[in-house]
Amino acid sequence: MENPFSEGENRVIRPPATALVIFGATGDLTKRKLIPALYNLAHDDYLPSCFVVIGAARTKLTDEQFRNDVLASVKEHSRRPVDEKVWARFAANMYYQPVDGSVADDFAKLRNRLTQLGQERSENLNYLYYLSVAPEHFGPIAANLKHAGLVEEPSSGTRRTSLIIEKPFGHDLESARTLNAIVRGSFAEEQIFRIDHYLGKETVQNILVLRFSNGVFEPLWNHNHIDNIQISVCENIGVGSRASYFDNSGILRDIVQNHLLQMLSLLCIEPPLSLSDANSIRDEKVKVLRAIKRFSLEEVATSTARAQYSSGFIDGQPVPGYRGEKGVRPDSETETYVAMRLEIDNWRWVGVPIYVRAGKRLPRRITEITIYFKKAPSSIFRGRQIQDLEQNALVIQVQPDEGIAFRINAKPPGPRLRVRPVDLDFEYGDSFAVPSAEAYERLILDSMKGDATLFIRDDEIEEAWDLLTPVMRAWGEDGTIAPPLYHYEAGSWGPSAAAQLLRPRGHRWRRL
Ligand code: BG6
Repeated sequence: MENPFSEGENRVIRPPATALVIFGATGDLTKRKLIPALYNLAHDDYLPSCFVVIGAARTKLTDEQFRNDVLASVKEHSRRPVDEKVWARFAANMYYQPVDGSVADDFAKLRNRLTQLGQERSENLNYLYYLSVAPEHFGPIAANLKHAGLVEEPSSGTRRTSLIIEKPFGHDLESARTLNAIVRGSFAEEQIFRIDHYLGKETVQNILVLRFSNGVFEPLWNHNHIDNIQISVCENIGVGSRASYFDNSGILRDIVQNHLLQMLSLLCIEPPLSLSDANSIRDEKVKVLRAIKRFSLEEVATSTARAQYSSGFIDGQPVPGYRGEKGVRPDSETETYVAMRLEIDNWRWVGVPIYVRAGKRLPRRITEITIYFKKAPSSIFRGRQIQDLEQNALVIQVQPDEGIAFRINAKPPGPRLRVRPVDLDFEYGDSFAVPSAEAYERLILDSMKGDATLFIRDDEIEEAWDLLTPVMRAWGEDGTIAPPLYHYEAGSWGPSAAAQLLRPRGHRWRRL
């Protein structure tokens, strides 16, 4: 198994011979993310030297039609323009097989196709199945794969077979447990790769490198020195064409349960035994999730804020309110903004408030993590007209303009002793001069190598849902004690109730 954190800079470690079967091959995610990611991996020459893709969906298409669709997706969504030579090599290994996920016979045909492609290439291909379909199809597809003899035991030693699953993984704790049980009926946990695309982002992976490869941070990384932590996932987009999904989900399930809690757990883990074994890291992440204090139903009212956007302006353009979006119920109570005050109840973090927020239709797209350190005593500056020193802050900008800044206090030039905050700045673009790959590129590559480090384990999913259960209950069926659903103007930074959450400790949201 490869270590994702130790590859030599220019060393290419190619995965073994693989057949990737994409279920939901005609869907939106395949077009926008998966196909462009594969094309860019081909461009970088990272794909296995023997690699085939089988697109699988209910629509009847020929290989040729599928290739044409794939070309259109690459042209529209790839971060690089199409290169004729790369395309020719890439397209020659693309196939299409009509498959209805609930029809056993279709899986027998799929098996024949896979066998034939392996024989033509004289290769024992690993099989990697990508479920880019709605969750209700996970169970039938997994069971039919197993039934058709397309799932090997992990210990069989014949070929590796693995399953990649897209979010949403469940709607609440109970449905996630059910889904886990269904999928594990056909695949062993070590064969299951649950995607959270935030884990594929360079800056998110860098959290571990930053913490554990720099001796300077770890001694300070605890409640003795850290005052509070803030994590913000802000988007300026609305719900677009995904209203039917989002209106039944809300931003708590869409962003907090997965992306936000994943970043939080990486930021707060204990040093894992090793960075080269997936379970060392995931064991520590799940401990963090387990240690986050659960809210009582009453605490939900004082520790969370939720809101929905009304009409407003984004980049000077008028945009409708959430309830006016196509596909949204006109009386929808779904939240498009959430803020929460969390606390990790363990030795390292006790007493440190962790403020998180996520929202749609905010003024701009930015995902940022800020660690505020405790203030230095300012008594030494007494009599120098210096009121208050700013806190040191470590700011990890996850996107866009990926980078890390450290805010310190410094003396501006001049005869007077004054103090001003300044930033020590690192920007990926400037320092490394290579564009970051898309998250899906890294994740697909790792799954082909059998490295599950950047994927979510069953217990992590369940802990994350468990944490949010009282929130969902208080906001839902036990609505009488719930905090109200506020409204905020599209293009604003959200409701003032979010700022109230920080007041008891005298904190403020960082200005983004
Ligand atoms: C997805 C959510 O998982 O992440 C979307 O379903 C959200 O609602 C998206 O827009 C954000 O991803 P990124 O990579 O653009 O920050």
